[in-house]
Amino acid sequence: MNSEAYNQKPIVILGPMESESAWLIDRLSHQTAHSIGAYIFHEGKIDGYPVVICRCYIGVVNSAAAATLAIQHYNPLCVIIQGTSGAHDPDLHQGDIILGETIVHLGRFFTPHCDKGNGSNPFRWAPQGSEIVSVDPDQFTSILHSDSRIINTAATVPYSDGRVMRGTIGAADIWNKELDMIAHLHQILGSDCEEMEGFGVAQVCAQFDIPCADIRVISNSEWHKEEEFNEKFGESCQMFVLETIRRLIAEKTML
Ligand code: 5AD
Repeated sequence: MNSEAYNQKPIVILGPMESESAWLIDRLSHQTAHSIGAYIFHEGKIDGYPVVICRCYIGVVNSAAAATLAIQHYNPLCVIIQGTSGAHDPDLHQGDIILGETIVHLGRFFTPHCDKGNGSNPFRWAPQGSEIVSVDPDQFTSILHSDSRIINTAATVPYSDGRVMRGTIGAADIWNKELDMIAHLHQILGSDCEEMEGFGVAQVCAQFDIPCADIRVISNSEWHKEEEFNEKFGESCQMFVLETIRRLIAEKTML
């Protein structure tokens, strides 16, 4: 990234799969690529402002690694993780956008003791927080938040592929297709949808005190048979996020 761009902290956008990042990468002008290990950071400009986009690959560890590298290397204005997700709330449908005001971990539990031969009952597992010392050095934290300035700006973006709602996004290295489990997580953790990266990014950003946001499109819902995963919604989310950052840049919301 050239010295002029370094005067402005870049906006970093992460998308796990090619279908969740390639469209945005194509929108960058003055593009160059910078590789750190397996992660390729595409540097460029949107409306004259420096933006870095990385396909971070699937999962909490990949997204946390990409967020850490991006923070260390670019000291960004903010990090936005975006992409597809599966509905936990039966009222959500393919194309709907969830602005993750709240981000919860769907894979951290403490199980009660169970004698050998008595199987496993995930419905008895107690949610556990993560050690995020920047949020609370004495407590384990199970709920994180997107930066309200990014969410409020995103809420003004016109969108025609579905509805736009503020909500709670859950993340873990699991793809749940069991409706009883989906309903249970929705009930105990308040998750409106699930994906596999958001909490990792939000946790790293919290530790480094970097504003972040999780913005997701619903690409599948087990509640509705015909709503199987469809990667085309990855583009709807990228278009929505592009307009969000255009507004952040034009309105100097984060500066
Ligand atoms: N459960 C988990 N991850 C999902 N994704 C889309 N739908 C779901 C779902 N129902 C996203 C994840 C990951 C990729 C496999 O798709 O965030 O990046």
